[in-house]
Amino acid sequence: MCPKSVSCYELTLGARRPDRTLTSWLYGELRRAIVEGRLPPGTRLPASRDFAAQHGISRGTVVGVIERLQAEGHVVCQVGSGTWVNRVAPVAARAKHGSPPTYIRRVVSSYKKPKPWVDIISPRGVRPFQMRDPAVAEFPAELWAGIAAKRARRFRSWLRTEDDGRGYRPLREAIAQYLAMSRGVRSSPDQIILVSGVQQGLDLLVRLLLKPGDPVWMEDPGYFGAAIAFTSAGAKIIPVPVDEQGLNVGTGRVMCAHARGAYVTPAHQFPLGMTMSFERRMALLEWASREGAFIIEDDYDSEYRFEGHPLPALEGLDRNANVILIGSFAKLLFPSLRIGYVVLPPALADYFLAFRYRTDFRNLSLDQAVLCDFILDGHLGRHLRRMRNLYSDRLGTLLDAGHRYLGGLLRISDVRAGLYTVGFLENGMSSRDAERAAAAHGIEVFALDRNTFKRPDPKGVLLGFGAFDETAIRRALLQLRAALERKTSCAPVNGHPVRSGSSVAIKPS
Ligand SMILES: Cc1ncc(COP(=O)(O)O)c(C=O)c1O
Repeated sequence: MCPKSVSCYELTLGARRPDRTLTSWLYGELRRAIVEGRLPPGTRLPASRDFAAQHGISRGTVVGVIERLQAEGHVVCQVGSGTWVNRVAPVAARAKHGSPPTYIRRVVSSYKKPKPWVDIISPRGVRPFQMRDPAVAEFPAELWAGIAAKRARRFRSWLRTEDDGRGYRPLREAIAQYLAMSRGVRSSPDQIILVSGVQQGLDLLVRLLLKPGDPVWMEDPGYFGAAIAFTSAGAKIIPVPVDEQGLNVGTGRVMCAHARGAYVTPAHQFPLGMTMSFERRMALLEWASREGAFIIEDDYDSEYRFEGHPLPALEGLDRNANVILIGSFAKLLFPSLRIGYVVLPPALADYFLAFRYRTDFRNLSLDQAVLCDFILDGHLGRHLRRMRNLYSDRLGTLLDAGHRYLGGLLRISDVRAGLYTVGFLENGMSSRDAERAAAAHGIEVFALDRNTFKRPDPKGVLLGFGAFDETAIRRALLQLRAALERKTSCAPVNGHPVRSGSSVAIKPS
């Protein structure tokens, strides 16, 4: 039986020197393509007749060369099933290139790893308490596939779908309706522009709104993704401290009253988790309106609130077009969907779109249509309700078991929202030490100081719980206990020597 093969595209061959015969040129080129891996093992070669026609040579020459390559073991031929590159042929390593040209070395040497990624430990696979993913195992994949299949069957009509660069209009209408109902945001579909996620929205906004050196407020501690976008655009980050009510607007005014704008996460502050109080929201809006400043409201996971009333978005309180809202379906559905949105004030929408044209003239994907159907058929609402219960239970387990297993080592925040939470170290470890110790015990936590600017290390770690069931959470908490006990067993905390063991009460340092 013929092994599975990859079909060969029209193969480009190097030019023939006048002193080389056709046969030696063709043999040399084909052999080189195979040995260098340009024609990988299992690739099916074009039929000799087609190959001869493509390159303007006789079929006899092609057949002769193929026979020689076959005799050397480079290709395998079978009557009736064609010729393909031998899977077991010895393939020499690709030719090594010398050092790269200056322009590449310039790029490499001027690249600075963003602070949040320095020394990051990124293991393969998903393990507790990784915080990137929602519970993808719980996503109704078959349902999604069914909707996608229905769309695919009508693919011809999709080919004629109009695209003005904003993204699939019916999806923008559905998002406008969803935001009006669930977030109190009044927007027309023309104000909504689809992006690949919050990060792309942020990058475009920051480059549109700021010049290098322009000051901008960020929460301290705050979202590393926003910090990366602002820093790359050369903006000057003014790190405004957050307290239990969110960003401290009074302090921001003292630090830099005339900042061009602010980036905030009012529904669920990243990384500490509190909700911005009504007074602070009004103060922030009042400041922005007085200064003519923008507010970027990152509404990344506001749907997941497990107690109290859902608070409308800041955008819903805005009377002066200062607020730009960005959101994403990464946490709501699944991260590889890569669909997010920016809700712009009407007077800015066309300019944002013009700016987006710098990187992409078109903005349609079949996934947008599938998502639109998923929303309009009522599945988004159902999925959200189900996931809210699931995440609430998972957080409940984390809090209960965390309290039992980690007493005196880690105090887990009692905020009941989102897909991650924060734990404050009570064993004297720094955020980074805890991150490293956890990794050594096979679990993943995110050091809180990766999100700080001026603020000293808050000595805490972020724990994602959304993607892990109760058993996995309990097991991982025991591993975390073992990791955090290392410090308590060897170092005195607050001047008091500490017993090793699981339930030693230690005062926070
Ligand atoms: C504060 C914040 N904003 C946005 C996002 C999601 O970004 P994206 O849509 O680019 O995946 C995250 C994800 O962790 C986040 O923590």
